[in-house]
Amino acid sequence: MAFVIDKKRTHYCGQLNADNSGETVVLMGWVDSRRDHGGLVFIDLRDRFGIVQIVFDPSKTELGVAKDFRGEFVIALEGKVNLRPEGMVNKKIPTGAIEIEATSCEILSSAETPPIQIGDEKVSELMRLKYRYLDLRSKKLQNNLIMRHKSMQAVRNFLDSQDFLEIETPVLYKSTPEGARDYLVPSRVNQGHFYALPQSPQTLKQLLMIGNMDRYFQIVKCFRDEDLRADRQPEFTQIDLEMSFVDTDDVLAMNESLLKFIWKELKGVDIKPITRITYDEAMNKYGCDKPDLRIPWELTDLTETLSSTGFKVFDDVSARGGSIKALAVPGYDGVSRSKIDKLTKLVKQMGAKGLVWAKKDGDSYNSPVSKFINKETFDKIFNKCNASDDSCVFIIADDFKVTCASLSMLRGHLANELNAVDTSVDKFVWVVDFPMLDYSPEQKRWVAMHHPFTQPVDEDMEIILNQDEKNYAKVKAKAYDLVCNGYELGGGSIRIHSQKIQNNIFDALAIGPEERAEKFGFFLEALKYGTPPHGGFAWGFDRLNMILSGTDAIRDVIAFPKTAKATCLMSETPGKVELDQLLDLGIRLSQSAKENLEVQS
Ligand code: AMO
Ligand code: AMP
Repeated sequence: MAFVIDKKRTHYCGQLNADNSGETVVLMGWVDSRRDHGGLVFIDLRDRFGIVQIVFDPSKTELGVAKDFRGEFVIALEGKVNLRPEGMVNKKIPTGAIEIEATSCEILSSAETPPIQIGDEKVSELMRLKYRYLDLRSKKLQNNLIMRHKSMQAVRNFLDSQDFLEIETPVLYKSTPEGARDYLVPSRVNQGHFYALPQSPQTLKQLLMIGNMDRYFQIVKCFRDEDLRADRQPEFTQIDLEMSFVDTDDVLAMNESLLKFIWKELKGVDIKPITRITYDEAMNKYGCDKPDLRIPWELTDLTETLSSTGFKVFDDVSARGGSIKALAVPGYDGVSRSKIDKLTKLVKQMGAKGLVWAKKDGDSYNSPVSKFINKETFDKIFNKCNASDDSCVFIIADDFKVTCASLSMLRGHLANELNAVDTSVDKFVWVVDFPMLDYSPEQKRWVAMHHPFTQPVDEDMEIILNQDEKNYAKVKAKAYDLVCNGYELGGGSIRIHSQKIQNNIFDALAIGPEERAEKFGFFLEALKYGTPPHGGFAWGFDRLNMILSGTDAIRDVIAFPKTAKATCLMSETPGKVELDQLLDLGIRLSQSAKENLEVQS
């Protein structure tokens, strides 16, 4: 009698327990491990629900094949659930009170020795990505993808209950600016024309509001060709949503309810109301717009205190309108000089020119700048920073952005080193009142800090309407981010719903008439025919799952992720294409592309 055809699986391995004792079961799964003991073969059989121990007596004819079982063989068996003898109970696994005494079995598929040990974290990530389908069998990735599935269902259930419609939008589309490069797809039937894979469905969801869908959501793939980091992938998933006739409070309240629902459903945790801080406050206190509030340290501004000490660096920076800030690190007065040299190198990566430090030494202070800064001023610094006597205070002077970025990095680095991150909680914060525009010295023009469809706050609308460029830096936007444990978990804004204001923003961004018509003509036209005030939000769904699963690598929550070079090691994507395909598309490779192909082949 063959399994699969004749005998159907009755249970999952991981779901059996003492209640099943005495039952006859049919199980199917992978051989996780095997042990031979006094003629008996013990197998741990693995399926998606866990592991259960099976005992085979291969001296019985119908069980002889058990001698051939090896790791990762796929087998089927029938057997009886027995309570394990007293003393043999394994409390570490849910099925540890029982074992299955096999009565018949079959090999469904044999397996070569796998190139990676399943679940062995010491195996290089390159190998685990190449053999991703094997790594997916590990407990960790199984749990992460189960969590991802559950969070996806929770999102759908909640948003459905709030009258959101799940609507799909095209993937072959036009450029949707979110600050990254586009992935382009050539058109065969319209040679010379290209689709762009959406960086987000931003314009489409706004058009859905113009189309009276009122509340939309989509769990949607987005594509961005940008530098990758531990929390970024070239294709990633958003929970994208949009609402009509709303203001900032409505959008934040809805997303906060969704967040609460997810945490309650998946972690059984009640999230307290989330505080809001402004972008300026976040930068001043933490040096970045996505602060990790699990770290109890804040930055202190010392620009005034240190504006004329005689230390040239500080004097010059404050004279030219820069910023001097400090970070007091408690319990760090024992830090060595060589360690400080390493920290100095670290902050230099963020553009800092150096790193001043100060520690208490009895009644006086130890610091490389004690020639210039007297005891009274050091007292003031320690006071302003609320620094305990055992603190080391680090000071950086530079342009505001560099000072902030450097100290923010130092804050994160030292908090990890000193175990000062309270990992027992998830800390959320709304960051609001972002600047609308940021001047890009490289591009020599203003760029949108969120995206060009964001509404300026009412108080600053005049500046945009009057195209008062010298005040553009002051304009705040109705934009908001949800930050969790130092990650930007999501972002959104209230949108412009007037064609005139939208045009003024395109003017401010130096998007000329031709480019405007080509890229956004259809959208500007739509704004003419009755647009409801609207706003929305998009969650980084992969990042949400990183936090839910407690990992700091986005690849751990994606079934088939890409490397930092945007490749898939398993399938060797991206790949070459046939010359004929290129001809069909009207595309010829450049010399450098050809050389690259030769190097790689
Ligand atoms: P934004 O560009 O802020 O906003 O994206 C929203 C969220 O998506 C996640 N995210 C990413 N996750 C993984 N890999 C990436 N490369 C990546 N890039 C972004 C982040 C981010 O907060 N259309 C707007 C939303 C809106 O205004 O409604 C948008 O896309 O968690
Ligand atoms: P120097 O006078 O260049 O030897 O610098 C004295 C100290 O100031 C050293 O510890 C430097 O790391 C530090 N330093 C130099 N430039 C800066 C800066 N812009 N901000 C903070 N510290 C600095």
